Amino acid sequence: MERAGLSRITGWRPGKGQKEVEIRAPKGTMDILPPESDRWRLVQEKGTALFRLYGYREIILPIVEYTEVFARSIGEGTDIVQKEMFTFEDKGGRSLTLRPEATAGVARAFVEHHLDTAGLPLKLYYRGPMFRHERPQAGRYRQFRQLGVELIGSPLPGADAEVVLLCGEFFSMLGIGTDLVVNSVGDENCRPAYVDALRKYLEERAGELCEDCRRRMTENPLRVLDCKVPVCAGIVGGAPGMESFLCGGCRDHYQNMVELLEAAGANPRREGRLVRGLDYYTRTVFEFQDPALGGQNALAAGGRYDHLVGELGGKPTPAVGFSIGLDRVMLAGPRLDEAEEGGVYILAIGGESRRRAFAVAHRLRGAGIRADLDHLERSPKAQMREADRAGFPLCVVIGEEETAGGYYTLRDMRSATQERVLETDLLGEIKRRMAAGINGPGPGGS
Ligand code: HAM
Repeated sequence: MERAGLSRITGWRPGKGQKEVEIRAPKGTMDILPPESDRWRLVQEKGTALFRLYGYREIILPIVEYTEVFARSIGEGTDIVQKEMFTFEDKGGRSLTLRPEATAGVARAFVEHHLDTAGLPLKLYYRGPMFRHERPQAGRYRQFRQLGVELIGSPLPGADAEVVLLCGEFFSMLGIGTDLVVNSVGDENCRPAYVDALRKYLEERAGELCEDCRRRMTENPLRVLDCKVPVCAGIVGGAPGMESFLCGGCRDHYQNMVELLEAAGANPRREGRLVRGLDYYTRTVFEFQDPALGGQNALAAGGRYDHLVGELGGKPTPAVGFSIGLDRVMLAGPRLDEAEEGGVYILAIGGESRRRAFAVAHRLRGAGIRADLDHLERSPKAQMREADRAGFPLCVVIGEEETAGGYYTLRDMRSATQERVLETDLLGEIKRRMAAGINGPGPGGS
């Protein structure tokens, strides 16, 4: 958009001494352009088809919520709530926040629409952008995209195991090797004793901790376990793990889940110091890590949150779920069979032919066949180059001879061979070639 146009719409003009705003995507956000966007679409289609196979149905949520939804769910003491939320006031003075994650929104919708009356457990999946004001780096953005599932209504370890296996299946399907790391963060009965022990351990080393961790140590010592500052990570390496503090109920739950995972062929690594940056977890937490990705190596993460629905005003309802970070999945190089798009380019030679080409393109598209034609009145040679560049395996050539003779010339772009096809036979012939795989997948193919 022209600058003048922009200021007419927004009323914005640079003030005295103010620099003109550079017109580009905001820091930490990005455009995903073709052909990369085709790969994104395929990953999302494959993922959501897999979720449906496991009985999940889509929930489409707003990308803004009232701020208290996140403050209450994720926890006032977390980095996300304290530092990373994009928060603003609406015109009525209510505080809104761009969602930093979707589990809180799912739980809010569950309570608001009394979804428990639809029969439990309820299996929901979602996809879309999330927003966190983090320092951008490879694999960490301010707007990123997630696919996630939530299984609401079962307290049993089988629910946790199924959710973990589903997440693992997503990565296997895409040929991405991952390490599965699991832990139990206990519950309100056993976690306090662990937190005390951890605080004591940290207090003895307080002088070496970073400034943030010195604060976390008193406010919420579990958050120190997440710190990426090298000295803190070193200290955390020697900290006590949660496992020996678990109460009977949590220990059995954890053990049962691990056994179910192992029976299904998964290979979970227990890590007693694994915690997540959100306060709502009870018992199970897990991550799928890609060791090749370096710092930002969690491709997906999740866990159980048995109190979240209750905390948002619903009947206490246990739940478990995960979110996959799609940006990191794309960095990990998913294996995709990118089938060629197929389709037909309509090449017109001369004015009358252009009218016919227009009608043919319309007819083919109506029959579900990808078709395109020239909108720049280019020469036949330039049109042929364009058909080639855009990857059309077939080309319908329409010139004076064809019009006079009542036929089309159908050109196979790969073999550079062509033949005449009667007007009445064109659609049938194109479909025949598609079915034979000469022209990529037919209508409805991916
Ligand atoms: P999370 O661990 O905050 O969990 O995020 C899940 C995944 O989202 C991460 O493992 C990572 O792949 C991706 N991710 C997070 N932040 C960024 C970022 N700034 N840039 C790029 N990718 C990022 C949740 O969001 C929970 N809702 C998971 C859950 C669902 N727990 C229960 N149900």
